[in-house]
Amino acid sequence: MTVHRIAAIAFLLCSIVTANAQTNRATFPKDFDKYVLYATYDRGFNKEEAFALPETLALAKAGKPLPPGTRLVLGVWRARQLAEYFVMEKGVNWGADFPADVSTGDWHFQQFDTSRQIRRTAFADRCQSCHSSQSRDDYLFTIDRMRAYVP
Ligand code: HEC
Repeated sequence: MTVHRIAAIAFLLCSIVTANAQTNRATFPKDFDKYVLYATYDRGFNKEEAFALPETLALAKAGKPLPPGTRLVLGVWRARQLAEYFVMEKGVNWGADFPADVSTGDWHFQQFDTSRQIRRTAFADRCQSCHSSQSRDDYLFTIDRMRAYVP
């Protein structure tokens, strides 16, 4: 076996290990009852509802950066039933948990079932790769709706 081949295998193993070890620290907000619905995406049978704390929406409206500790929650409805929740949470330097080319600022992404327990059927790297297209808007898709929200 050549050195290159060993190096290639070591690299491959390493990337598999890191891919699996990627931390995901986003948690479901314990104070979800304080969150307000700021956007609904109605697609007939399926629906999405976006929730944030009033202070988060006030910051977005003022054009201020969202601080670490911010969480955004998306309720995902399928066949007219709440099916799961998607959560984004920003933490201090959380972006450092991922290689620079895949990190989405300091946001982590997590999927929860309707009892608000972690459920990972979609992998966070898919959330991140799609949301990375929104890097200009702090990786958010709903920023316009946040700014337009009237309490
Ligand atoms: C294929 C693209 C795509 C993927 C994959 C994706 N999202 Fe999103 N996300 C969107 C879009 C688009 C919206 C805006 C609502 C809409 O139009 O459905 C959104 C909105 C959100 C929001 C509301 C805040 C905001 O504006 O960004 C959260 C929270 C969220 N997604 C979390 C997640 C999580 C967690 C995952 C993975 C489990 C995920 N998303 C996977 C495209 C994606």
